[in-house]
Amino acid sequence: MAPQIFVLDAGGQYCHLIARKVRELGVSAEVRASDTPAHELAPARGIIISGGPSSVYEAGSPRIDPETLKNPNTAVLGICYGQQLMAYEQGGVVEQGDKGEYGFAQIAVSANATDLLGGLPESQQVWMSHRDKVTAVPPGYAILASTDTCSIAAMANAATRQYAVQFHPEVVHTTHGRAILSNFLFRICNCEKDWNPTGLIEELEEQIRRTAGDRSVFFFVSGGVDSTVAYTLCLRALGPERVWGAYVDTGLMREGETGFVRNLFRTVGATHFHVEDARARFMGALAGSAEPEKKRHIIGQQFVDIQEQVLQTGHFTDGNWILGQGTIYPDTIESGGTAKADLIKTHHNRVPAIQKLIDENRIIEPLTQFYKDEVRAVGRQLGVPDEFLDRHPFPGPGLAIRCLCATEAAAPVQTEDGWILPVKSVGVQGDSRSYRSVLVVNGASRTEATAIVNRRTDVNRAVRLAASHSPVAEMRTAPAFLTEERLDRLRRADAIVRKLSHEQGFDAQTWQFPVVLIPVGTPDRPDSVVLRPIQSVDGMTADAVEIPPALLHSLTEELSQVAGVDGIFCDLTNKPPGTIEWE
Ligand code: XMP
Repeated sequence: MAPQIFVLDAGGQYCHLIARKVRELGVSAEVRASDTPAHELAPARGIIISGGPSSVYEAGSPRIDPETLKNPNTAVLGICYGQQLMAYEQGGVVEQGDKGEYGFAQIAVSANATDLLGGLPESQQVWMSHRDKVTAVPPGYAILASTDTCSIAAMANAATRQYAVQFHPEVVHTTHGRAILSNFLFRICNCEKDWNPTGLIEELEEQIRRTAGDRSVFFFVSGGVDSTVAYTLCLRALGPERVWGAYVDTGLMREGETGFVRNLFRTVGATHFHVEDARARFMGALAGSAEPEKKRHIIGQQFVDIQEQVLQTGHFTDGNWILGQGTIYPDTIESGGTAKADLIKTHHNRVPAIQKLIDENRIIEPLTQFYKDEVRAVGRQLGVPDEFLDRHPFPGPGLAIRCLCATEAAAPVQTEDGWILPVKSVGVQGDSRSYRSVLVVNGASRTEATAIVNRRTDVNRAVRLAASHSPVAEMRTAPAFLTEERLDRLRRADAIVRKLSHEQGFDAQTWQFPVVLIPVGTPDRPDSVVLRPIQSVDGMTADAVEIPPALLHSLTEELSQVAGVDGIFCDLTNKPPGTIEWE
């Protein structure tokens, strides 16, 4: 059945957030490539054109089928780039900007703004992120709102039910964003509430039974939410004798993780659960590699090889088996519409034997309709423990990308803004990656630190020293790689942080709290620890979170006693310009 809303992906990372917000309001929504032919979109009640990093003047920038804007039965909402595209296509003026406008803005809503902004305050906070802007509306349009620097912050042609906003109603920083989307869905598109993921559980189980027929299902589980919930659904549908799982112990996981996963699967009723011990193999393959993408690549390749081996030796590729996967909705369209967003980090690898099973249609992916928070809701309904569902996200390559390596000896460099540490970390500026040094700022707030990072061209991250055995001036980097010793050091530090932040309730206040080991210290204590608590909605953008003084005190006390650890730093950087992880 066609969804009521199609979100056209114009290349930003926000299209999924828009679709999720629409679903949260109880309305079915799916993402499609921006240039999807108008006749395929015609069954929808409304279309939302997403934002994106392009300019309408760039060759190859995302376009829509012009017929889409001529269909009187479908209302349209353009967001950011979507607004510029609607203006450009319909005879308005889009002006190119070099610098752009990023962050909070205050809009003044005009008196004639009815349906889209109707019932909302005359002045409200929104979040902007754009370079180009619309400077003259197309014929038939009226201006609905403006800011000091953006005279057309929202525009509408009520007769054709076409609306557009320069700001982002889908992000939490836009105070009335949810109400604006709700107005579009219910007042303008006349949508009905038709979306409730937990109401679909019985239907999903029925589908699993139909797809499996007489065959059994085999899963590689990661200990992550998606594969666990998919596994649990299959268990419910087929019973424990017909659902098998394997977990690869890479040696790159957190303290106690393998035991935790074993218990979890026991709790959900699994009886055929196998742990593949691949620790030595991963360590061997990673020895001597320092570069972040190289490490990711090696880990991805090891996973591929081990999965292939498990599938072949266990005869899971013969006709009695099909493969279960925890693929969720954003994974299914990554290679479609969102391919336009620049690659920020490589996250996915596909095994040839798995590809073959997919090609033969021997695969069960019960969660492909859902976003992560919907998967959690389904898991909760199935009795998967909250303690597991509420865990912070953890990256597939594990601690390998939180244990920074170095190939050369180096010393910190003093600047007028503080010391530059001799390590590099990954950042994200616009939609592209950066790989730059880290600045130690003295006494700066998070806002000041972000301003310094944005001003300097040689760093993408700022940290503050919380405690150390030696002064930063005496710290050095020596060549360092992924070794058991360093991984154990990081595992210990991470376990301390998890324990204390859980005890003090801080983990519930953060979306993720990576603990990073950097090769900066002295010969006796060659590494330092970085604390990176962040708040986020979906990991695409993030705010650095200040650690409460009492917690920071106990953290530094315990962490300074970990053998080999010199300094403890707090990361002050938002995303952008820094990524959440350091690699
Ligand atoms: P960044 O560092 O890009 O992280 O701001 C955004 C979110 O993605 C997670 N992440 C990964 N997850 N494999 C994964 O499965 C990876 O290689 C990877 N890199 C980052 C990160 O933990 C955060 O939640």
